[in-house]
Amino acid sequence: MCGIVGYAGYNEAAPFLLEGLQKLEYRGYDSAGIAVFSDKVRTMKSQGRLATLREKVDAAGGIPGTLGIGHTRWATHGAPNDINSHPHTSMSGRITVVHNGIIENYIPLKEELESQGVVFRSETDTEVVAQLFDKLYDGDLVGTLIKVIGRIRGSYALGILCTDYPDTLLAVRKDSPMIIGLGEHENYIASDIPAVLDHTRNYYLLNDNEIAIIKADSVELLDTDRNPIHRDIYTVDYDISAAEKGGYDYFMMKEIKEQPAALRTCIGSRIHDGDIRLDKIRLTDDQIRNIGRIHIVACGSAWHAGIVGKYVIEELTRIPVEVDLASEFRYRRPILRRNDLCITISQSGETADTLAALREAKANDVHVLSIVNAVGSSIARESDDVLYTMAGPEIAVATTKGYSTQLAVLYLIALKFGEIRQTIAPATAAKLLTALEALPDQLESLFADEDALKALAKQHADKNNVFVIGRGIDYGASLESSLKLKEISYVHSEAYAAGELKHGTISLIEEGTLVVAVATQDQLYEKLVSNVKEVKARGAYVVAIVKEGCTDVEGVADKVFYIPQTEDIFTSTLTVVPMQLFAYYTAIERGCDVDKPRNLAKSVTVE
Ligand code: BG6
Repeated sequence: MCGIVGYAGYNEAAPFLLEGLQKLEYRGYDSAGIAVFSDKVRTMKSQGRLATLREKVDAAGGIPGTLGIGHTRWATHGAPNDINSHPHTSMSGRITVVHNGIIENYIPLKEELESQGVVFRSETDTEVVAQLFDKLYDGDLVGTLIKVIGRIRGSYALGILCTDYPDTLLAVRKDSPMIIGLGEHENYIASDIPAVLDHTRNYYLLNDNEIAIIKADSVELLDTDRNPIHRDIYTVDYDISAAEKGGYDYFMMKEIKEQPAALRTCIGSRIHDGDIRLDKIRLTDDQIRNIGRIHIVACGSAWHAGIVGKYVIEELTRIPVEVDLASEFRYRRPILRRNDLCITISQSGETADTLAALREAKANDVHVLSIVNAVGSSIARESDDVLYTMAGPEIAVATTKGYSTQLAVLYLIALKFGEIRQTIAPATAAKLLTALEALPDQLESLFADEDALKALAKQHADKNNVFVIGRGIDYGASLESSLKLKEISYVHSEAYAAGELKHGTISLIEEGTLVVAVATQDQLYEKLVSNVKEVKARGAYVVAIVKEGCTDVEGVADKVFYIPQTEDIFTSTLTVVPMQLFAYYTAIERGCDVDKPRNLAKSVTVE
């Protein structure tokens, strides 16, 4: 939820830091700052977007030095302002720190340090790290960091400068993401790969509490016993353009349009001659046959994918599935049995609540299979099995291809488990597989409605209350459709089980209220049409999303969008697309920043 960068090399650090932070603004952007070390450490930081900081640096004629750290913030402690922006420097000026995460015990530490005469400038938890480090500092940089790690509790990715070490960038992480980029006579740290991709494709991933001593020509990794650590070098397998906008106005539109390709990769890489292979998961067929219950745990859109996944997995495997918000699951002492399976879903693989839920499941000896996009992320590394969605980097805060590929992996799991548990007749399995493989092209065909959806957005951009209704899987899809509107266009939208409307919410329907009715489930179609009539009778403007052929709804709804014929269990992959486009154009109409909606961040790596 914040982004950190660091540079140790022979070129000027400031340009790298500013450019790297720009690539990380999706992680938080309410303030930013950099610190560069030449004859001394010079820090510049400011509230507001990175452009404000860049102007400040340019106005000062740049900041000299070939060693530096930088930070772009999503505030957790202390309002977004200049003082609370990172980097933070200790009272003596010796230690300067950037941090992503939360120091949960910062208050007692701050009180202890204040009682020893330390004067704090900011309200942040991060400043405690800088002050504590300085207080414990005995000239041994690594030894002091080890002592600091022993005192702080919470999550952290730290970049540290010390005035006694003009060539050294010190780094450590726990729970928050960080990579160590490996360049030619220069090395880097960053919260995520796009920040370094212009300079290198090679990087280390640190495990919790592993320490990196980074210089222009060396990177040394140690554990907290100061034992050297060997780490494999990861190489980025996508190019810089994949992390850039590619000619689109916003990353979100690029990523909407990338969904067909992402689905082809995600699905196609797991089907060989009509046989589904779930990569090399360690879960055995016997374990799959003996699963008693599945717990799907996630946040945000990933949770919505889980809701749809419940319907599909139960339909195909007859395994009972519970879907939990990770922030609830982690604290409700969930009832878990050893033959349960926990599936966590996370695009970033760094969402703190989901990571905590994963650990809760593992603490109860439950096998954890995770559906993740970010390769090598914390959730991926801590899971017993991981199935990557292979969507490529997703930069827009509002997920699109991340969500649709999560659905695809859930479909694959349901099909494979059903095959192993013999709950799907072979003929049915073959039919479903054919339908699954057709989804990418079918999704692509929906882009033909883009202009009509743009016009619909223009027509309804002034609406502040929208209802998205559906039954069964369509209700699950409605949750995601509704969230898209909320998070990028700030329209108050509510997804509602259509059968539930009459028990209260229908009182909110008035003349002109926009209602989107998702009606793709054959068995429930007539009931949905009745619900449409109910809201129409109260003045609603109804947009229906139905399967091709259901033209009778045109006599009831005001506007109809059709999706290609597919299996009922797969329709969510398609019905969400008109709503992604509608939300996108509504946000444009309302002058919103589509990629960086207010108050949000791409990955919330704190509670
Ligand atoms: C939110 C994002 O912060 O976290 C959502 O804005 C996302 O798009 C949710 O669905 C969960 O994130 P992740 O990375 O765990 O899927």
